[in-house]
Amino acid sequence: MAVIKKICCIGAGFVGGPTMAVVADRCPNIIIEVVDINEDRIKAWNQEDLSRLPIFEPGLSEIINRVRGKNLYFSNEIEKSIKTSDMIFISVNTPIKKNGIGAGETSDLRFVELCARQISEMAIGHTIVVEKSTLPVKTAQTIKSILDSAVKNKTGEERSFSVLSNPEFLAEGTAIENLEFPDRVLIGGDDAVAIESLKEVYLNWIPKEKIICTNLWSSELSKLTANAFLAQRISSINSISAICESTGAEIKEVAHAVGKDSRIGEKFLRAGPGFGGSCFKKDILNLVYLCKYYGLYEIAEYWNNIVKINSWQKKRIYELVVNKLYGNLSDKKIAILGFSFKANTNDTRESPAIDICSYLINEGAYLKIHDYKVSESLIKDTLSKSFIVSPNKREKIENCFSFKNDVYEAIKSSDAILILTEWDKYKSLDWDKISKITRKPTWVFDTRVILDIKTLKKFDFNLWQLGFGE
Ligand code: NAD
Ligand code: UGA
Repeated sequence: MAVIKKICCIGAGFVGGPTMAVVADRCPNIIIEVVDINEDRIKAWNQEDLSRLPIFEPGLSEIINRVRGKNLYFSNEIEKSIKTSDMIFISVNTPIKKNGIGAGETSDLRFVELCARQISEMAIGHTIVVEKSTLPVKTAQTIKSILDSAVKNKTGEERSFSVLSNPEFLAEGTAIENLEFPDRVLIGGDDAVAIESLKEVYLNWIPKEKIICTNLWSSELSKLTANAFLAQRISSINSISAICESTGAEIKEVAHAVGKDSRIGEKFLRAGPGFGGSCFKKDILNLVYLCKYYGLYEIAEYWNNIVKINSWQKKRIYELVVNKLYGNLSDKKIAILGFSFKANTNDTRESPAIDICSYLINEGAYLKIHDYKVSESLIKDTLSKSFIVSPNKREKIENCFSFKNDVYEAIKSSDAILILTEWDKYKSLDWDKISKITRKPTWVFDTRVILDIKTLKKFDFNLWQLGFGE
């Protein structure tokens, strides 16, 4: 087994940054460099003011404060870092392909391929390459063939590689907790020595019974499957939320009763406006593509329906808002509470708020958007790229919404309040104050099921809560 002294992580994003911060914290004897092509991102990781790191995660700034400059470094010097590392994590983005074969379904592997090429050209001696990004099954084969395309590197030195798959299961908003106390760590590979070396890194803080070793393809497929199962639970409970609204059943009661069955379990049964985040949709679509590739069309359709229900949930919420507001949103102001795809993150990728806000803007509504962590510029950028927004509105998106730092400013003189992210602070808003500053009649739409109906009933609001019959 090779003792790992220096790690390079390519990709300083939502996974690379927090993951390497925790590895550095738990492995003081290993030097870790997180490298990225994006200079602004690296600058942001290196800045003094820890409240302005590029990623917001509870507990992250404290760890960065402990390890940055000691054994954790952020830099743009990718080649130098590759040359001097024993182990290289590839943690770059793997978005859905936009053009060509598999467009809209499979991952665009250009960033992963570029990493493999750079590693192949620069590495010296024996290097363990670890796939941390979520990748389509059999990607390790592509990486291996690029790495092994020559015996010597660009400057004539001999080198060799082992490729491992080590998918990440952290969820945003709880990344640090998930990294420090994971349910499991998964290592896939066929080189026992390399597997032992990576295992040894994790054993610094993770009990050995939590480390699962499999072959490469099982590891890659397990990651896609885990995300598909999680997303499936959300689409399932969201489909039941609509039945609740039609029948008078209550979604929280149903989820509680169903989740008490230990075979089903209580987690991931919160109905909402649909799952967001950069990965669920992308990973299911990858699974769908894989099924089609192997001629498994019925299975492809089965998984694709999880994504379809998710889109339907967002659309039905928008239609319901229009319906309740007398079928007309022109000259109406709607306060949007929350834009991130879930609480405790500043990430907006695939946030249900994007589609719902876009539909409402198209319908003529003026939105007053509030979020505790998402910036105005990111909201503007995101909405101006949404293809749901009609082109003429997209061009002048700044005329269709305003961003408010203060939640009551967003709510003031609005016709409706639409809760889209479950930020804790929205649970304890001053409804007495709100009742005096909105335009009447005021609708409150709670898509995250976080408001207390009894409290709201004391005031003259019309309330719609997801999964509750009228
Ligand atoms: P991200 O977009 O936040 O970060 C990726 C970073 O990689 C970017 O900063 C980008 O500039 C950099 N990069 C791209 N190509 C590069 C190159 N050739 N050299 C150097 N840097 C390069 O992405 P993320 O959310 O961290 O996700 C990374 C991977 O991890 C994806 O495959 C994703 O599916 C997976 N994943 C994400 C999460 C999550 O919660 N976000 C959780 C588990 C797994
Ligand atoms: C998810 C998985 O939970 C991680 O294990 C995985 O590593 C990660 O994807 C990934 O591969 O990127 P993440 O997307 O960060 O993590 O966040 P989740 O907590 O899973 O939430 C995803 C979406 O589902 C959010 O929009 C959230 O609001 C929604 N959700 C979640 C519900 O609507 N109901 C629930 O009960 C749980």
